[in-house]
Amino acid sequence: TPRVFSGIQPSGGLTLGNYLGAIKRFVDMQDSGIETIYCVVDMHAITVWQDPEALRRQTRELTAGYLASGLDPQKSILFNQSQVAGHAQLGWIFNCVARLGWMNRMTQFKDKAGKNAEKASLGLYAYPALMAADILLYHATHVPVGEDQKQHVELTRDIAAKFNHDYGTEFFPMTEPVIEGAATRVMSLRDGSKKMSKSDPSDASRINMTDDADAIAKKIRKAKTDPDGLPSEVKGLEGRPEARNLVNIYSALSGQGVDEVLAMAGGKQFSEFKPMLVDLAVDKLAPISTEMARLMQDPAQIDAILAAGSDRARAIADPILQKTYEIVGMVGAK
Ligand code: TYM
Repeated sequence: TPRVFSGIQPSGGLTLGNYLGAIKRFVDMQDSGIETIYCVVDMHAITVWQDPEALRRQTRELTAGYLASGLDPQKSILFNQSQVAGHAQLGWIFNCVARLGWMNRMTQFKDKAGKNAEKASLGLYAYPALMAADILLYHATHVPVGEDQKQHVELTRDIAAKFNHDYGTEFFPMTEPVIEGAATRVMSLRDGSKKMSKSDPSDASRINMTDDADAIAKKIRKAKTDPDGLPSEVKGLEGRPEARNLVNIYSALSGQGVDEVLAMAGGKQFSEFKPMLVDLAVDKLAPISTEMARLMQDPAQIDAILAAGSDRARAIADPILQKTYEIVGMVGAK
């Protein structure tokens, strides 16, 4: 039976990239009736320094973002990683399965560690093995993520395959990444060759899920474009990353295919298309930011939702961890 797992780091505010590439698709999968587990990966967040007070706030704010976007704690398991000890425990086992050569190929580590990799934490390096543990602790079969996480899900399959091979078992499943739709890689509004990211120093490069209608409108109006109008067919977007990005965002927000968007907007200038995108974005995003702000007024309620989700997550994870220990040869009470 299919089981979906995914997670987001509470290492800053949520962006439109996180929403379209991940959360909106989490909601679709939840509403399709599959078993869904969504995590706030606070242990991944501390692979780079987080101020404790900021981490607490960002954990609650991300949870508020999940809820405000339509995740329902009755339908999905919503919890934070640190509260289910099995993530760290299985993560250690996978540290002993993954090979240094595999980790050395991880592009996210290279990007995040930058030129001075000697100063990066050991946790940042081991990060993908913990992510494999997140997924496999639940025997998840499907992992909805943006394009940038594809390599990590592939590594998860490599770890599962090596574990299964080394211990002569078929215990861990081969998990599929689910990378679908028009917004698997939302780009910066200032530079169509860079991913939209919470860590970009320019706030104008991204739409934050906490931005109000005015901020959203201003950022879209100022978004970089080229001088041409919109093409009426998808192939006309080739070599035009900024135009493609705005069309992709329109498509993902509206639920229309890129071809449908171009059938409607082809021939228009950006001076005409941008206000349409502003209206759509404000219409879809402003209610979410309003609801997030409302939920943030009652942090105790958010904490209670996470605590209840952690109990449900543990009930699935514990037997899988115990079985893993047994396979590996750890002695303990049954
Ligand atoms: P994180 O926190 O960087 O991002 C969360 C999710 O948002 C997606 N995303 C984007 N999608 C489209 N366009 C963008 N510009 C964009 N920016 C971010 C990411 O692809 C991701 O799906 N390692 C993960 C967190 C993680 C995880 C897991 C995910 C930890 N354990 C287990 C899945 C399963 C990360 O850093 O995502």
